[in-house]
Amino acid sequence: MIEIQQLCKSFKSVPVLQGVDLDIADSERLVIIGGSGCGKSVLLRHIAGLVKPDSGRLKIDGQDLTPLNERALNPIRRKIGVLFQGAALFDSLDVFHNVAFSLLEERTLGMPEIRQRVAEMLAAVGMSGQEGKKPAELSGGMRKRIGLARALIHRPRIMLYDEPTTGLDPQIADSINRLILKLALEFNVTTIVVTHDMVSAYMVGNRIAMLHKGKILVSGAPDQIQQCSNPIVQNFIHGVSEEAAAMKMSRRENASST
Ligand SMILES: Nc1ncnc2c1ncn2[C@@H]1O[C@H](COP(=O)(O)OP(=O)(O)O)[C@@H](O)[C@H]1O
Ligand SMILES: [Mg+2]
Repeated sequence: MIEIQQLCKSFKSVPVLQGVDLDIADSERLVIIGGSGCGKSVLLRHIAGLVKPDSGRLKIDGQDLTPLNERALNPIRRKIGVLFQGAALFDSLDVFHNVAFSLLEERTLGMPEIRQRVAEMLAAVGMSGQEGKKPAELSGGMRKRIGLARALIHRPRIMLYDEPTTGLDPQIADSINRLILKLALEFNVTTIVVTHDMVSAYMVGNRIAMLHKGKILVSGAPDQIQQCSNPIVQNFIHGVSEEAAAMKMSRRENASST
């Protein structure tokens, strides 16, 4: 479904992606982990067709995005649903108009179909009958669910989630993870989740890939990642920061040399 080859991207000559290779199969649930600022969001924005790489290839459903202009990218973007970090709802619009927004703009479906589609999506995210509520009346977890319904309204083949549980308390985070998993299975949608939370990663992913220094360092089934002997991976999944690990190492070296 998605083929990424040697993808490179720098900002003001600071390299962020330095040759990312990644293939994602139809209906797969891939979780991308990695330290803060390592380029996870940048990679996701490339897959969404929102950023052009400096070099490399990015194919969605067999079609190479890299040479396409804005106009040619639009139909491909429509195959992809995105839930970005901190994605805000329109405060002045009720739930119905937030979820239906892009369908109302497109004007390809009539109002009865749009109402039906919104009702289906709200049911899928556990928010049936909430069409008339304003975002201010909803909790953080509920707003996430509405954001999800809005992203799914086009019935995308691919769903991208950027840190979907960041800032939510553990119980709400757990319910959002369950929902992501349920929607992936129910709609058979290829799912990519970016997170630095390993609980979410193990729960949602059938594959986990770690981005490190601009490349995919390792990729494998959750239990393979858990058992991976690479110390960078082990430190990440056990929450040891790289600095702390380096200090521990140098202390050990000092101790053995004295
Ligand atoms: N539009 C941009 N312009 C300049 N620098 C950017 C831009 N987007 C991201 N970056 C930089 O790229 C790096 C990776 O960012 P990001 O993908 O957001 O990291 P994360 O892994 O935390 O999601 C950061 O150093 C960030 O400052
Ligand atoms: Mg990010």
